[in-house]
Amino acid sequence: MSKRILVTAALPYANGPVHLGHLLEHTQVDVFVRAHRMLGHDTIFLCADDTHGTPVEVNARKKGITPEQLVAQSYDEHVKDFKDFHIHHDHYGSTNSDTNRRYAEKFYAAAKAAGHIFSKDVEQMYDEKEQRFLPDRFVKGTCPFCATPDQYGDSCEKCGKTYDPTQLKDPKSALSGTTPVMKSSRNLFYDLPQLAGTLEAWLERPGSLQEEVRNFGRTWLKDGLQPWGISREGPYFGFEIPGEPNKFFYVWLDAPIGYVSATDEWCSKHNRHVQDYWKADSDAEVYHFIGKDILYFHILFWPALLHDVGYRKPNAVHAHGMLTANGEKLSKSRGTFINARTYLNHLPPELFRYYLCSKFSPRVEDLDLNFDDFIG
Ligand code: MSP
Ligand code: ZN
Repeated sequence: MSKRILVTAALPYANGPVHLGHLLEHTQVDVFVRAHRMLGHDTIFLCADDTHGTPVEVNARKKGITPEQLVAQSYDEHVKDFKDFHIHHDHYGSTNSDTNRRYAEKFYAAAKAAGHIFSKDVEQMYDEKEQRFLPDRFVKGTCPFCATPDQYGDSCEKCGKTYDPTQLKDPKSALSGTTPVMKSSRNLFYDLPQLAGTLEAWLERPGSLQEEVRNFGRTWLKDGLQPWGISREGPYFGFEIPGEPNKFFYVWLDAPIGYVSATDEWCSKHNRHVQDYWKADSDAEVYHFIGKDILYFHILFWPALLHDVGYRKPNAVHAHGMLTANGEKLSKSRGTFINARTYLNHLPPELFRYYLCSKFSPRVEDLDLNFDDFIG
């Protein structure tokens, strides 16, 4: 029997170029989609650019352009890079679209109606010169554990410990170089702990997750879920929250909603109905492919948001490991952080696709691009 199948790859950040790590994921999905089409299933592959957040806004400002202009430039580059790698998306959307705003507001209203949104005052680091709150990555200082200078506000690259930016010694704003002050503001939270029972049922559903991924989920549930901060104070490049002046949806709130808005946009063009894919009792199959670094968002937050809005959950979330080069993390300084375009300027896409395919596995293991092996 022919099935209706919707498959997604995680939405690449508009803030940077498509690189070989993204291509691992998109090649995996491309192969999965082609295989299901050959089996006669009605299969669509959707993706979009993930556009919101502080980095896009700050980078645009550095370049003297608007965030919208930056996002539009990236969009064209991303679409071309994927196309030249023979990755075929049936629709490639953007989270900064009217469709996505409409859905973000709908999801938020549903979560609020379900009594899952609350607000609380939170003290955060604030840059008085730039007049803005600083995300963790925009605070730098000396590691509180090993005293290495010039470390980000969330974790130390030398000793690997994670911490709160307020623990840094001698913290400085990465934007202005001034010493941040503590300032309080009212933040909105999604009350994830209320969803513990629902999420447990979803985690245990047969076939939904790889066993190692399910175990991560079980550990997170056992350790206790925390409320999730879903608002950011302006200035912030994103959607303003209805009824909350100068507060914006945190990028990770509207990013997965991009899967639904991409479906809506594809459906409008093809005379289909978005609800045939997303309504609670849909008989279509939905598969998300993601990297292991964004599991928490996809196996906890996303199913919770879907639950509140009365949509179905994915049949499965498939996680892959990271692409490494010669056994190490892709790194700009070692020249192993290779952009799609750089690769294409030198080699045919088929070689890398073939190399990846020879190494894919159902496990969540890293996949190594070993240069000697690749040449051989
Ligand atoms: N924008 C978020 C995803 C939102 S999904 C609703 C994001 N973007 S990303 O550009 O950083 O990563 C997009 C995808 O590429 C993620 O699934 C991520 O795991 C994957 N990869 C990024 N670097 C990678 C490697 N080095 N190797 C393999 N996959 C990698 O996260
Ligand atoms: Zn350290």
